[in-house]
Amino acid sequence: MSSQSSTQGAALAPEKRETFSSRKLFILSAIGSAVGLGNIWRFPYVAYENGGGAFLIPYIVAIFCAGIPLLFLDYAIGHRYRGSAPLSYRRANRKTEIIGWWQVLICFVIAIYYAAIIAWAAMYCWYSVTKAWGNDAEGFFYGEFLNTADTVGVSFDFVPNVFFPMLIVWIFTIVIMVAGVNKGIARANAVFMPLLIVMFLILVVQSVFLPGAIDGLNAFFTPNFDALQNPAVWAAAFGHIFFSLSVAFGIMVTYSSYMKRKSDLTGSGYVVALANSSFEILAGIGVFAALGFMAYNANSSVDSVVSGGIGLAFIAFPTIVSAAPFGALIGVLFFGSLVFAGLTSLISILEVIVAAFQDKLGWGRVKATLIVSIPVAVVSLLLFSATTGIYLLDTIDAFVNQFGILACALVMVIVFGSGLGMLPKLAKHLNRHSSIKLGTGWMVLVGGIGPAVLAYMLINEFQAKITEQYSGYPAWFNGVFGWGLCGLLIVVAGLISLIPWSKNSKLEDPEYDQHQQNVQAEAVPETVSKEY
Ligand code: ALA
Repeated sequence: MSSQSSTQGAALAPEKRETFSSRKLFILSAIGSAVGLGNIWRFPYVAYENGGGAFLIPYIVAIFCAGIPLLFLDYAIGHRYRGSAPLSYRRANRKTEIIGWWQVLICFVIAIYYAAIIAWAAMYCWYSVTKAWGNDAEGFFYGEFLNTADTVGVSFDFVPNVFFPMLIVWIFTIVIMVAGVNKGIARANAVFMPLLIVMFLILVVQSVFLPGAIDGLNAFFTPNFDALQNPAVWAAAFGHIFFSLSVAFGIMVTYSSYMKRKSDLTGSGYVVALANSSFEILAGIGVFAALGFMAYNANSSVDSVVSGGIGLAFIAFPTIVSAAPFGALIGVLFFGSLVFAGLTSLISILEVIVAAFQDKLGWGRVKATLIVSIPVAVVSLLLFSATTGIYLLDTIDAFVNQFGILACALVMVIVFGSGLGMLPKLAKHLNRHSSIKLGTGWMVLVGGIGPAVLAYMLINEFQAKITEQYSGYPAWFNGVFGWGLCGLLIVVAGLISLIPWSKNSKLEDPEYDQHQQNVQAEAVPETVSKEY
């Protein structure tokens, strides 16, 4: 990376865009991004709540009809236009740059709270050894650990238990990011992903041998086919898949821009999607086996102990750790898995922001990483290591993550799918760089079915959010940090897109220019916007 950072400035030779040194490393990093907190604590709960075993049907339909087609759309744009999300979109059509900044800002918001959850998990690795929560996991989490304020609001009353681990998470992540795509991102994934898989496999094996595990697995897999008649179940499957696969919020556009020209886009995409779903189902088995034990131990039904998200990780799992044979090991494996899965996803989320500013302002890697990541870390620490952090996290996650990503995905399919009529061009690009060719089916899914399904889901989500006061929080709180923040992101995205591009980023991308020449030499009948 040092050679890159030294080539700043318009007068110097333009910086060559760094690429993953092998396809294997790209795939590993893309899996690292996809497999995150969403897989471990979100999927099992969503599946259970929405028909158990029968949920696999809408889930598989959602993967093939929306997840993978949008993943290919991200790959096509990133790989073809060779830039961060704003730059790639601008190169496709200059009016679409704002979508890229919108995605960058969504990543900013997700990054600032994602780091807090990783820090909590890191602390709980240690607490699992000492069983620090005693007999009251819930009281410990909200009280002694988070020191949660009694009133919903914003305070800057810091909690050392959270502040210091968060600081370490940020320093660690920034060090990786400074090292660049190969020496940082790829290397971190090459270390963390095998560790995550080994740890998680041991956890699953240990969990399925716990007494009562079979009841948990029955609860998870017993299909409720009636659920399939409920549109909300289908919406849950489609809603889950975007966050889980890291599509439609800039990550895969950015990562695929680092893929070598000569690559296999669709083949890689199928491997990533398969690995992500396999991990999710494995997580469902591990989590429900452990919940089966929890119910057995409490002499109650699995139904009464099931939870997802924060409740699952920081209340149910500590209870399991306290009661299970070799509980400390279960705790270290579970929370350690959350840390590794979270870190590899956080890296990819932060990369969207760093790459965008690097392109826009023509900065070198080190400069861009430090100037961008340090303020992100400061905001994250200010908001989420305070006594009100959990309230903010809850509302921001519900609105910006669930609502914002869906809205972004809809805009993407409308603009790049139907609006700009770019799909034939992108399909051609995918087919030129892929082992598994795409036909018109992909275009129909992205340009026709995608917008219809996403619009339906977004309207449903919108109705749900305006008719209920989210989490019972005061209206002003959800108004400011929910709706207000969602709107603010779009306004700020518009303002950033007005900032002029540095000369360096605008005109000089040797690899892109070379590609253009190759395309012309091959006389492929397609036009590429040179407006950027
Ligand atoms: N795809 C990542 C997750 O599931 C962001 O958490």
